[in-house]
Amino acid sequence: MEQGSFEERLEAFGRLMDTKVKQEEKDSERSLRPKTFDDYIGQEEVKENLKVFITAAKQRKEPLDHALFYGPPGLGKTSIAMIIASEMGVNIKITTGPAIERPGDMAAILNNLSEGDVLFIDEIHRLNRQVEEVLYPAMEDFAVDIMIGKGPQAKSIRLDIPKFTLIGATTRAGLLSAPLRDRFGMVNHMEFYQVSELAKIVENSAKTLEVEIDREGAEEIARRSRGTPRLANRLLRRVRDFAQVRYGGVIDEDVAAVALDALKVDPNGLDSVDRKMLTAMIELYGGGPVGIETLAASIGEDSGTIEDVCEPYLMQKGFLQRTPRGRVVTDYCRAYFHYPVPSKNNSGSDGSGKDNRDQLKLGDFE
Ligand SMILES: Nc1ncnc2c1ncn2[C@@H]1O[C@H](COP(=O)(O)OP(=O)(O)O)[C@@H](O)[C@H]1O
Ligand SMILES: [Mg+2]
Repeated sequence: MEQGSFEERLEAFGRLMDTKVKQEEKDSERSLRPKTFDDYIGQEEVKENLKVFITAAKQRKEPLDHALFYGPPGLGKTSIAMIIASEMGVNIKITTGPAIERPGDMAAILNNLSEGDVLFIDEIHRLNRQVEEVLYPAMEDFAVDIMIGKGPQAKSIRLDIPKFTLIGATTRAGLLSAPLRDRFGMVNHMEFYQVSELAKIVENSAKTLEVEIDREGAEEIARRSRGTPRLANRLLRRVRDFAQVRYGGVIDEDVAAVALDALKVDPNGLDSVDRKMLTAMIELYGGGPVGIETLAASIGEDSGTIEDVCEPYLMQKGFLQRTPRGRVVTDYCRAYFHYPVPSKNNSGSDGSGKDNRDQLKLGDFE
């Protein structure tokens, strides 16, 4: 159960988009994680393709081809890897890029798999080069090359390993080396979720958490969840606290709105860091272009978090654009925060003068 007083927990809520998943959240993620394709809402295209490939692989009694999933945190990459293993009826071994330090560790992991198993490597872009090189023959020929002896006598021998499926996850496909990316038979881009899909996820989670919520309440939470199921579940848990302490336990649209306002999550899902970043761009840099490192330093945030978590959503919502010279805010963004919008003939600002709302997709961050 969750610990601490209501106020303490509100305090601990911290940032909406905190990338560190706390223990409390880990426990609840386990219970809220979808177990089958039917529970896994949205990402229809990815799901339909996978179902075909899984059926075909099972008919041929072969392991599934290696698959890569990329997209911002919390969009369901780990979940889908687990569903794939369960649909294939095989075991899944879960690890992360930075955890595998030496080529020998990688070889040992591969050698210990059983025929058909799934090896899931999270943050696969963070594998070091020598470790990554062990994967090339493993993925292609189900073999590893091992060096025997030292110096001039050293020779390489090739050992067979069990046929397996590698599933990789990364926040940005662009960070992956080309030779590794090319060895995946399926490269899947995870999309931000629609409000209707997130509302369904919130309703399903509410059932599991045994909290009463109506459709409008679920939609209000969904609208403020930045297209991200993990955030939808995170907000649901916090709104549940409000509902329980102040509103007799039932979540409707008003309760959700009041609670989310109190948590400083605005109606578009922007939180204090988004606001700080966008207003800093306008006030300190005339709306840009400004480089990511400069911007990160001036608001005291980590540039990786800005790139992986803040920007994809802000670009998709039309607040921000990337240009070769740096980031620029859109006119839509200026208007949203009640700053004057420069006229189109004015040579200042980003010069494009275009409102790019919803035109930029996640693909831009490759
Ligand atoms: N498609 C989905 N349907 C239902 N819930 C989802 C879906 N995708 C993610 N979730 C929820 O969000 C949580 C985080 O998903 P996860 O797979 O860990 O994301 P990622 O690995 O991409 O960071 C899951 O525990 C689950 O509760
Ligand atoms: Mg994950």
